[in-house]
Amino acid sequence: MTNKPSTLLLIMIAFSIFLNCKNTTVKENAISPLPSLKESFKNDFLIGAAISRSQINQTDSLSNALLEKEFNSITPENDMKWEQIHPKEDSFNFETADKYVALGEKNNMHIVGHTLLWHSQLAPWVQNIQDSATMASTIKAHINKIVGRYKGRINTWDVVNEALNEDGSPRESVFYKVMGGENYIEQAFMLAAKADPDAKLVYNDYNLWKPEKRKGVLRIVKNLQDKGIKIDGVGMQAHWSLEGPTLEDIENSIIAYSNAGVKVSFTELDVTVLPNPWDLDGAAVEQSYAQFENDPKMNPYPVKLTDAAQIQLAKRYEAIFKLFLKHKDKIERVTFWGVNDGHSWLNGWPINGRTNHPLLFDRNFEPKKAYNSVLDLKKQ
Ligand code: XIL
Repeated sequence: MTNKPSTLLLIMIAFSIFLNCKNTTVKENAISPLPSLKESFKNDFLIGAAISRSQINQTDSLSNALLEKEFNSITPENDMKWEQIHPKEDSFNFETADKYVALGEKNNMHIVGHTLLWHSQLAPWVQNIQDSATMASTIKAHINKIVGRYKGRINTWDVVNEALNEDGSPRESVFYKVMGGENYIEQAFMLAAKADPDAKLVYNDYNLWKPEKRKGVLRIVKNLQDKGIKIDGVGMQAHWSLEGPTLEDIENSIIAYSNAGVKVSFTELDVTVLPNPWDLDGAAVEQSYAQFENDPKMNPYPVKLTDAAQIQLAKRYEAIFKLFLKHKDKIERVTFWGVNDGHSWLNGWPINGRTNHPLLFDRNFEPKKAYNSVLDLKKQ
C-alpha cells in the first residue's frame, strides 16, 4: 500500500522529465538548425549521394535519416542500369526505380537518372545485337520508355556513361561497334532531349581530369553542339585517392569543360585510403584483383581508420572542396558514391572483402574528421 503513491510519483516525474527534454530538443532545433552539408553548400552546389536498394526501400532508418539530413540530391547506385530496368527486350522492371523517384520527390531532392547507355551492367540480350538497325531501334525504345516514364520527375540524366578510352579515343563498346561509330551518342542525347525537354543531360565518365581523356570529352561535347544536339553537363565521376589526381589536373578540366559551355558535376566522389600498388587507374568495373584477396597488406584498416589516416583524408577532402568552392560558378552538383563507409562499393572493388573508408561518414553514421574539414570551409 505505502509503496504505491511513490511509484506513481516516480513515473510522473520521469514522464515530465521526458516531456521537458523533448521540448528542449525541438526548441533548440528550431532556433539553430543543425549544420549539414546541404545547408552549408546551398548557395554553391547541390550535395548528392548514391543510394542502394535498401535505402530506396527504406529498410535502414538511420541511413535514410542521414540521407535526408545531409543531402539534397540522389543517384540510384544500380537500380536504373540497363540489366536492372530493362532485363529482357519486352520487359521493363520499374518497381525499384518508381520507389526511388518517389523518395526523391518526398524529400524535395534533385533526382538523377543513372544511366541510359553504358557497356557495363548491360542486359545480355543487348550484347548479342549484331546489326545497326536493331541496335538503333533498341536504343530508341529504351530511352523513350524510361525517360518518358519519368518525364518532369527526373531532373538530370547521365545519358551516356564511359564512352571513352584513357587516351580520349572512342571506347569500342557494343554500341560503338554495332552502330559503326560515335553516332550512338548523338542518338542518345537527341532521344533523351525529345523525351524530356526539361531534363538536364550529362556525359559521365571516370578519369576526366586526364588531359588526353579531356580532349575526348571536348570532342564529344563539340560534336553535339555543332549538330544542335542538347548537352548540359559533364559528369566527372571522381573516384579518387589520397594521392591523386592533382588539384591542378582537376582544375584544368573544370575550366576546359566550362569554357566549352557545359556545367560540371562531380558525380561519384569517393577517396580510397587503401593501397593500390599495382598499376591500376580508373574505375573500370570489370577489373578485379583476386590474387590480393585476404592479403593483410592490402587491407590495413580492417577495424578502424588510424588518426593519422583520418587526418590525411580530412586534408585531402578539404583541398578538394576548396577547389570546388573556387569554381562554384561552374559546378552544379557534388555527389558522393554512397552515404557511409559501410555502403561504399570500394569495400569490394577492385579487391573483394576489404574495409575501405572513403566517405565523410563512418560505418556508425558518425561524421569523420573529413566531414568537419569540409564544413569548416563554410565557417571561415
Ligand atoms: C558501381 C556500384 O557502386 C556497384 O554496386 C556495382 O557493383 C558496380 O557499379 N562507375 C559508375 C557506377 O558509373 O555506376 C559504378 O557503380 C562505379 C563506377
